Amino acid sequence: MEMAWPYEMCSIIGYRGPGVASETIVRGLKKMEYRGYDSVGIATLSGELIQIRKGVGRVSDVNASMKLDTLPGRVGIGHTRWATHGGVTAANAHPHCSSSGRLSIVHNGIIDNYLEIKERLMEKGYYFKSQTDSEVIANLLQMNYDLTGDVKDAMLKTVSELAGTYAFIAMFHNGILAAARYNEPLIVGVGKDCHFISSDVLGFVSQVSDAVFLRDGEIAILDSDLSLYDFEGNPVQQTVIKLAKNLLAVEKGEYAHFTLKEIFEQPSTIVGTDQGGPEFDMLSLYLKHAKNLYITGSGTSYNAALVGSYLLRKYASIRAEPLVASETPFLPLHFDRQSVLLALSQSGESADVLKAVNIATKGGARIVSIVNVPTSTLVRESSVSIGLNCGPEIGVAATKSFTSQLSTLYRLAEKLSSDADFRDFDKIPQSISEILFSSFEIRKIAHELRNVSDIYVLGRGIHYPIAIEGALKIKEITYIHAEGISGGELKHGPLAMMHDGVYAILINPGDSTFVDTLAGANEIKARGAKIIGISDKPNLIYDRWIKIPSVPEVFYPLVEVVPFQLLAYYAAVERNADPDYPRNLAKCVTVK
Ligand code: AGP
Ligand code: GLU
Repeated sequence: MEMAWPYEMCSIIGYRGPGVASETIVRGLKKMEYRGYDSVGIATLSGELIQIRKGVGRVSDVNASMKLDTLPGRVGIGHTRWATHGGVTAANAHPHCSSSGRLSIVHNGIIDNYLEIKERLMEKGYYFKSQTDSEVIANLLQMNYDLTGDVKDAMLKTVSELAGTYAFIAMFHNGILAAARYNEPLIVGVGKDCHFISSDVLGFVSQVSDAVFLRDGEIAILDSDLSLYDFEGNPVQQTVIKLAKNLLAVEKGEYAHFTLKEIFEQPSTIVGTDQGGPEFDMLSLYLKHAKNLYITGSGTSYNAALVGSYLLRKYASIRAEPLVASETPFLPLHFDRQSVLLALSQSGESADVLKAVNIATKGGARIVSIVNVPTSTLVRESSVSIGLNCGPEIGVAATKSFTSQLSTLYRLAEKLSSDADFRDFDKIPQSISEILFSSFEIRKIAHELRNVSDIYVLGRGIHYPIAIEGALKIKEITYIHAEGISGGELKHGPLAMMHDGVYAILINPGDSTFVDTLAGANEIKARGAKIIGISDKPNLIYDRWIKIPSVPEVFYPLVEVVPFQLLAYYAAVERNADPDYPRNLAKCVTVK
């Protein structure tokens, strides 16, 4: 089976083969850099000696100062860390060695019961050099290995004692690599005379093209061969998947950043979504016949869910209740065999979304999804899934995946409606291109916004989800405080915040919301705040006008989001913030 460009999340990697492990691992870590991370480290084995180098910062910087790629040995492990437990320090960076130095580990995820394990191990004389939760894996595994004298038994005992989410790789002093997966991705790359194991196929796809995807609750052991077991110790059959080489084409090209490239790809990506195939038809049927239909996602994908809920209701008379994925465990929801959960996710790996899926599945509901990464956990857990096909999205800010989610939702609403006329959809790529061509004007406004501390984004009706999404884009990559507000709510609170120096961005095309949104504009102006109007029509009340083409009201979300992406991108650049890798954020949030 040929899969297209799968890629997932924050990075761990292991290598065992004839090449120089440190060079191969550093190369792999660089390929997986799209993920937000704060520190990096590698460990290699030469003879029976494990050597570790690690530091805070980007792979290339830490490599330049610490020469990670000169460590000797043909077996090694590497990590980029996104700190959850313990500060961003070199000591907390992975890999972590056991007290005896006879094995070392890298870990993605969170060990929930680490304090309890740590206490137990300290009583037995093991010591710890970091504040991370992950370090307990090293000492626990060492203790179990010393007890059993066998890698497989030690791994089984260790996973039976760990609670939390994890993908970890352990390198033993005898050259064996062992790894376990529980709610974090892990894939083995199989070459003629070498093996990789990584959280992301990008880590090895330039070297080998066969992959074995581990499922949750599986262990891999790599010596000269690969063996797979479940957490009970039973052997698991290995299914080899051929990876598509077009994964390698993920380059910035002439663009300064991936984010900019991805914004400019949208005229073509919005028409590339799966539509009309058997999966599309099947998913439509599930939506049509659901007694209770929920639509969920996190962050930007949730904002797409809001638009989807609007479209299904308006055009197909289908009620789809929008759910913030992370709220699912705390809401009085009722899932049963007649319920359907439609999950939206770019990565297909967001922990909050997978948790919602898990709750719905336990209640008996069907899971259907719209996902960009075809090999992701969400796709595997869905009865049917349709693809965004918009190509890898590397920038942490979701841009093209959002417009592709919308375009899929339009296609679904059209299919399920008896009378919606969505023929004008074909003109939308051209409308987006027109905005992209005027990006120079938007850049000037971004320059003006660079020192502003508060931006309020207002929209009504179908524009409200875009107000939230626009504000999310701004805060996420520029670090300027931004808030999306439903236009009519202005006078119920936010008006108190309008004064000199504040900016309000009005999503105000000439449609059914126009007159009411303009009334709000007068109230804002009277309090001294500046107004940026995003509209197809000029108006004297706007201090700045971002012109968008006129399109039918239903399609405005697809075009009006683009100025926000550009504004956020250019303002981030003006503020010397890296738009591709915003601080504190990860491309795929695989922790609770
Ligand atoms: C969007 O710009 C964010 N980076 C974030 O909100 C993202 O959309 C969210 O984490 C969900 O990710 P997913 O679509 O991969 O599930
Ligand atoms: N919880 C671990 C830590 O804070 C691992 C984080 C990660 O996935 O990078 O070190």
